[in-house]
Amino acid sequence: MARNKQPAEESAEFISGLKEWLKLEDETIRFANATMKKTKNKLVRMTMEMIKHDSEKHKAMQKMLIDSITKEPLILTPDDLAALSDTLNKHLAAEAKSLELADAALDASELFITRYILSYLIADEQKHHSLLAKLNELKRATVFVT
Ligand SMILES: [Fe+2]
Ligand SMILES: [Fe+2]
Repeated sequence: MARNKQPAEESAEFISGLKEWLKLEDETIRFANATMKKTKNKLVRMTMEMIKHDSEKHKAMQKMLIDSITKEPLILTPDDLAALSDTLNKHLAAEAKSLELADAALDASELFITRYILSYLIADEQKHHSLLAKLNELKRATVFVT
């Protein structure tokens, strides 16, 4: 695909925004650690642990994104996905079933703690399902280069 201008991703502002965000992840990890030092409460500690894990994950993804723009582009072809089609479909179905069970549990729940934990889990299950669904959609397209 011919481009008559540089993609927005290659602008200095775009990259510096991503780098600033990447740095903030370390700060959020420090805040989570600081909170954990101050409490033995299991629910608060679990929340902080989850945020820390997510921040580590965000850092890895932000780095990959920055590298894909500044160093080596990421490429995904329909062939890459075609080879995974069967597994991806089964995985998608398992995530959909998880979401169904999680939704049913939330609907049936009354207590704050249950709902707090289930809401977090549901957001994650929705995310897993939608990531896989997006990959599945790409099977129909021709070629993707970031
Ligand atoms: Fe983050
Ligand atoms: Fe999941």
